[in-house]
Amino acid sequence: VNKVTTEQHRPQFHFTPPSKWMNDPNGMVYHKGEYHLFYQHHPGSTTWGPMHWGHAVSKDMVNWEHLPIALYPDELGTIFSGSAVVDVNNTSGLGTKENPAMVAIYTYHSEKLEKAGRNDFQTQGMAYSLDNGRTWKKYEQNPVVKNPGIRDFRDPKVSWNEKAGQWVMTLAVLDHIEFYGSKNLKDWTKLSEFGKTAAAHGGVWECPDLFPLTVNGQLKYVLLVSLNPGGPNKGSATQYFIGDFDGKTFKSDNPLETTFWLDYGTDNYAGVTWDNVPKSDGRRLFLGWMSNWLYANEVPTASWRSATTVPRELTLRQTSEGVRLFSAPVKELQKLRAGTTFVKAQEVSGTLDLSNRYNLNSPLLELDLNLDVAQAQNVVLRFSNNKGEHLEVGYNPAQKELFIDRTKAGKTDFKDTFPGRHTAPLTLENGKLRLHLLLDVASIEVFANEGKTVMTDIFFPNEDFTKVELVSTGTTRLLDSKVYKLKPASGSE
Ligand code: FRU
Repeated sequence: VNKVTTEQHRPQFHFTPPSKWMNDPNGMVYHKGEYHLFYQHHPGSTTWGPMHWGHAVSKDMVNWEHLPIALYPDELGTIFSGSAVVDVNNTSGLGTKENPAMVAIYTYHSEKLEKAGRNDFQTQGMAYSLDNGRTWKKYEQNPVVKNPGIRDFRDPKVSWNEKAGQWVMTLAVLDHIEFYGSKNLKDWTKLSEFGKTAAAHGGVWECPDLFPLTVNGQLKYVLLVSLNPGGPNKGSATQYFIGDFDGKTFKSDNPLETTFWLDYGTDNYAGVTWDNVPKSDGRRLFLGWMSNWLYANEVPTASWRSATTVPRELTLRQTSEGVRLFSAPVKELQKLRAGTTFVKAQEVSGTLDLSNRYNLNSPLLELDLNLDVAQAQNVVLRFSNNKGEHLEVGYNPAQKELFIDRTKAGKTDFKDTFPGRHTAPLTLENGKLRLHLLLDVASIEVFANEGKTVMTDIFFPNEDFTKVELVSTGTTRLLDSKVYKLKPASGSE
């Protein structure tokens, strides 16, 4: 049953909490046919506060069922971000081989210790469930990783590492990553550090993830690191490294100063990947928080705050510039399509009203456009409403720049850092630009050239955008393309 919510900016096919505040996705793990999603949640308010883990499950990452809050604060602190695994071989002894424990490893944030002026108020704790995540017990001997006296010491991402032959925890520590190893999820030993002088350091490092991916028949490791502030378009953003992990140490393939961004938009933060996805599936599945600490607490929604991105598949691909991390919407999202319209090749100079021509008068759209912009000075997709508000997504060939402009996209004055035009570098080959976009009532996700360059932005129009035009300065060749109206998913609220 598709439940269409009444509040204007409630996303229709993105995950949102039933009510109140949400930030980072946490503990994403697949188990017995269910994708689990936990999330940073403040059930008492629509602004950030004492953190809990909210919980939802899905069979397809598109339609969600909300479950009761999984983890509540206790005497050791509130429950910050972290991960979950299924202890298949019962290394922890917390379950059995027949019924392995689902184990959550998270950061305790002790407000008491913080107020007392101490620096060791963030530690890593553990909780487990023996009934598929429905009920949880805290581990009796928490914390499992103590704090050495560093204020920012958090967001453990744990997974079983084949090379190490043990569990590896990737932890964000102020301005670097620390790796810890454990045979039983309870006793942890520090393995190494990475990143103090690598890539972007405009803010604190948070929410890391380390996972293997294959490219050119070679096994590589990708390290995601969220950074706040210091993103390419200000505020929060996520960078990535590609390299090798020998079971102990991470070594980047690229010069230390190189920075790669997972998403150049302002609104994809603290994203990590699902653990325990079956080998037979083989995908590396990602979800981010679709907001930015610059204004997350101020966005103009009333009963809840924040959504996640759509689930995305991450792959490594060889490009002419080197190996890069690509993102694409997962194939399960195709079930939201309410019919396919084929767009025949044509030349556009000036404005093509796509809504009128292809019956796209909907605020929920998927556009997959193949463009040749070799003869264009500028090409823009313009989403608009009857109030004169509009959102622009475009490409400027001379500047080699993809952009989203939300300056006039509706409500922007709730925070001076919100309105703006955001850009991402993108070099084309032979003028070929593929723009794959997902439009929801309050967000746009742009996957350019198969997801080599990605931009995610949120916006708050006073009326839905139900008109879309392609505006070309010079001549854009619109090649054979496909466009879709989308249906709402269930469980978006
Ligand atoms: C990232 C973050 C994490 C932290 C959590 C607290 O957005 O700051 O580092 O664990 O949010 O809610």
